[in-house]
Parts: sequence; C-alpha cells; structure tokens
Amino acid sequence: MAESKTPLLDQLETGPWPSFVTEIKRMAPEKPSAQDLLGQLEVSYEEKKGHWKHGGIVGVMGYGGGVIGRYTDMPEQFPNVAEFHTIRLNQPSGWYYTTEALRKVCDIWDKYGSGLTNLHGSTGDLVLLGTETKYLQTAFNEYSEIGFDLGGSGSDLRTPSCCCGMSRCEFACIDSMDICHNLTNTFQDELHRPMWPYKFKIKVSGCANDCVASIARSDFSIMGTWRDDIRIKQEAVREYVANGLDIQDIVIDRCPTGCMSFDGNELTIDNKECVRCMHCINKMPKALRPGEDKGATILIGGKATILQSAFLGWVIVPFMKMDKENDYEEVKDLLDKIWEWWDEHGKVRERVGETICRLGMRNFLRAVELEPIPQMVFKPRANPYFFWWPEEVK
Ligand code: HEM
Ligand code: HEM
Ligand code: SF4
Ligand code: SF4
Repeated sequence: MAESKTPLLDQLETGPWPSFVTEIKRMAPEKPSAQDLLGQLEVSYEEKKGHWKHGGIVGVMGYGGGVIGRYTDMPEQFPNVAEFHTIRLNQPSGWYYTTEALRKVCDIWDKYGSGLTNLHGSTGDLVLLGTETKYLQTAFNEYSEIGFDLGGSGSDLRTPSCCCGMSRCEFACIDSMDICHNLTNTFQDELHRPMWPYKFKIKVSGCANDCVASIARSDFSIMGTWRDDIRIKQEAVREYVANGLDIQDIVIDRCPTGCMSFDGNELTIDNKECVRCMHCINKMPKALRPGEDKGATILIGGKATILQSAFLGWVIVPFMKMDKENDYEEVKDLLDKIWEWWDEHGKVRERVGETICRLGMRNFLRAVELEPIPQMVFKPRANPYFFWWPEEVK
C-alpha cells in the first residue's frame, strides 16, 4: 500500500467521534474537489496556515445572499478547489425533512457540488460545501424546483431558526416553529438582499432551556415563558420525593432566586421572585409545569466576537404575547424599529449589540420606543444597564 498522503489528517480519525476527515475521504474517489480539499487541508496543518482566500462575489439571479464565495490560494497545486463555493439552503422550521426531500437535495448536490454537506450549521441552514461558479445558477434552479429557497449570508437577515417546540416538547410555551416560519416568510427581502451594516440573526426557543442557544447566537432572541404562577401537582412532588429525589439539594437549593421551599409535604413557590429559569420544572416535569399565561421574553445583542467580545443577549421585553391571530404584529413592529435604528447608526461590520454598546442603551431604547424597566440587566444579577437622561433626574 502506498504511503498515506495525509498523515496529519489521519490522526484526526483516531479520536472517539465520527470524523469529518473520514467523510471527506469517502467522497474523494468520486469527487476531485474532495481529494483536493484533503490535500490542501493537510498542507494547512503542516504549515499551520489557512489557504482559503476570503470572499469574492458570487451569487444567483435576483439574490444577494445565500452563496458564500471561496477560492484556494494554491490553485496550481489544487485546481479542483480553485472555486469551492458554499450554498446555504433555508432549512424548514425545526429541521424536519422527509427522507424523500433529503434524497432530492443530495442528488442535486452530487451532480453539481462536492457531495459534502453540513446539517446543520449553527446558522441553521442546510449547508452545501463546495461548487464552482458555473454550476451555481443551475443548482439553485433545481433546488427551487423541489421547493427549497436559499438561506442568508452576508450583511442581511440570516435564516431564522427555532427549536422543535410544540411538535415534540412538553415545555414549549410558544409555537416556536410557527413563529420562525412566519418571520422567515415575512422578511424574505431582508433575508435575500444584503443591505445592513452586518448580519442579523433571529432564533426562537420555546422556553428558557433555549435549545437553539438563541441567547448566545442570535442578535434577536425570542424565548418562550409565562407570567402567572408555576403549576404544581403536590401529589406528584411527594411521589418524586418518595422515589428518592433529594428535593432540598437538587431543586430547592439550586433555584437561582431561592424562592422555593418544601416542608416535607407541600412545595411552595414565591412566584414573584421566580425568574422562570426552568430549573425546577426540568427536574420534576411530572409535578411542575409552566404557568398558563404564556408568551415570550425578547432579548437583543447576542453574538460571537469580531469587533467587541462575545455577548449574551440582554432582555428588552420581559414578556410579550405571541399572537398567532394578529400575525405576530407586535414582534414584527419591534424588529422594524430596531433595524431602522441600527441601519442608520451601525458602522460597517458592527452587529446591533455592538452599536448599542457604542451609542448606549438609553439611545437604543428611546429609538425603539421601549421604557426602561428593572428586568433590563447587563449581566445576570448585576446592575440595571439603564442610565437616566439628565433631564429626567429629579
Ligand atoms: C472554502 C473555504 C472556506 C472558508 C474560507 C470558510 C469560512 C467560513 C466562514 C467565515 C463562515 C461563517 C460565515 C458567516 O456566518 O458569515 C463559515 C461557515 C461555515 N463553514 Fe466554512 N469555510 C470554508 C469551507 C468550509 C469547509 C470545507 C467546511 C467543512 C468541511 C466548512 C464548514 C462550515 C460550517 C459548518 C459553517 C457554518 C454554517 C452555518 O452555521 O450555517 N466550511 N465558513
Ligand atoms: C481564532 C479562531 C476563530 C475565530 C476568530 C473565529 C471567528 C468566528 C466568527 C467571528 C464567527 C461568526 C460568529 C457570529 O455569527 O456571530 C464564527 C462562526 C463560526 N465558527 Fe469560528 N472562529 C474561529 C475558529 C473556529 C474553529 C476552529 C471552528 C471549527 C472547527 C469554527 C467554526 C465556526 C462555526 C461552525 C461558526 C458558525 C457559528 C454560527 O453561525 O453561529 N470556528 N467564527
Ligand atoms: S427550548 Fe424549551 S420548548 Fe424548545 S425544545 Fe428546548 S426544552 Fe423544548
Ligand atoms: S423556574 Fe427557576 S427561579 Fe423559578 S422557581 Fe423554578 S428554579 Fe426557581
């Protein structure tokens, strides 16, 4: 057998998890681009240096986003990845597919691309890795025919994403999938035409467990919650305790606000102190349920680093009803106001959280017509981030 040409990459396959190296190798006999991808990556590991050129404008008719242009900086050595563009497909809410739909997606990608996919990147999109400029339009046309649209890329709204919510999860306080679908359809233009300072992500979680990590990964996070009292079945609480749950240690002492107590018989919750963190409900789902007056908490500014450090989102609306009947008008209104302010004041490559940092929360709140309230805190259990306007101090 010939010596391996990728000794460094081979090491990555020895770990306990499935390896992307193995998958790329599987495609290599069929796809020269997969072969060259391996070759180039090995060189990158040897030299400890990336060999992709960044950016370049490629796209399809009528769209400004959805395709991410990539070129190797070593085209002589690796001609088959001279162009290696990524296509993003807009994923269905909750990432549900029929096997038939997936087969069709893959058949088209086998024809025009490297055959490599990524389901699902953190953006949420179905990511198709590596094709040439000449195939972009044809591939897009065929994806359109089977009912898929492009996702977002560049300085635009990125494909909104959500947890599986009510389709599978008893904790869901809002219909995260419906909200995500509705917002995606409403904001198609913002999704496909990059015209903002930078990217903007919306993610929707059905409850504070936040399975799509919206607080960290989205500029605008919608998280299901409730505002009345947690529902308690005392009988079921006693059953947990009888079955060996150390309720004091596991539930009561770990409530972040210390608002629960158990007298050996009854569980009591001081609901006005509860911050709806979901901890107790997660531990005793048969005994505790969210209240019945449900809605969402809205947070702004979550992002990974580029200009400023990583941010978690900050609460701007502690509770908003999520009304299917009026087409989620309230949340859309708020989004429009936020975009208008950010678009006008944001610098190039500045996420909305960074614009807020630079210009101040009180300017932001005034622009989007929200009143400052105590729930607005910069870091958990730290100072409220609102500083009064001088003329308002009496
Ligand atoms: C051709 C050279 C490539 C470059 C320069 C590159 C760079 C990037 C950048 C900057 C992003 C973030 C885009 C954004 O959010 O605005 C991204 C997304 C991503 N890339 Fe690449 N990439 C390349 C190819 C690849 C390859 C070969 C893989 C895996 C084998 C890969 C995997 C991913 C994944 C999983 C995402 C996230 C997608 C998502 O979360 O939606 N990329 N890439
Ligand atoms: C110093 C090293 C790195 C820097 C500076 C960096 C920077 C970034 C930035 C700025 C983003 C965009 C985040 C956002 O949307 O707010 C990003 C996204 C991403 N990066 Fe990195 N990255 C690094 C290393 C890596 C590595 C080693 C991997 C994987 C092996 C990786 C995988 C990803 C993926 C999958 C995303 C998409 C996440 C998302 O869309 O939420 N990155 N990275
Ligand atoms: S975020 Fe909440 S509602 Fe959504 S899947 Fe996770 S636990 Fe269920
Ligand atoms: S939801 Fe969280 S804060 Fe509220 S009572 Fe349960 S553990 Fe305490």
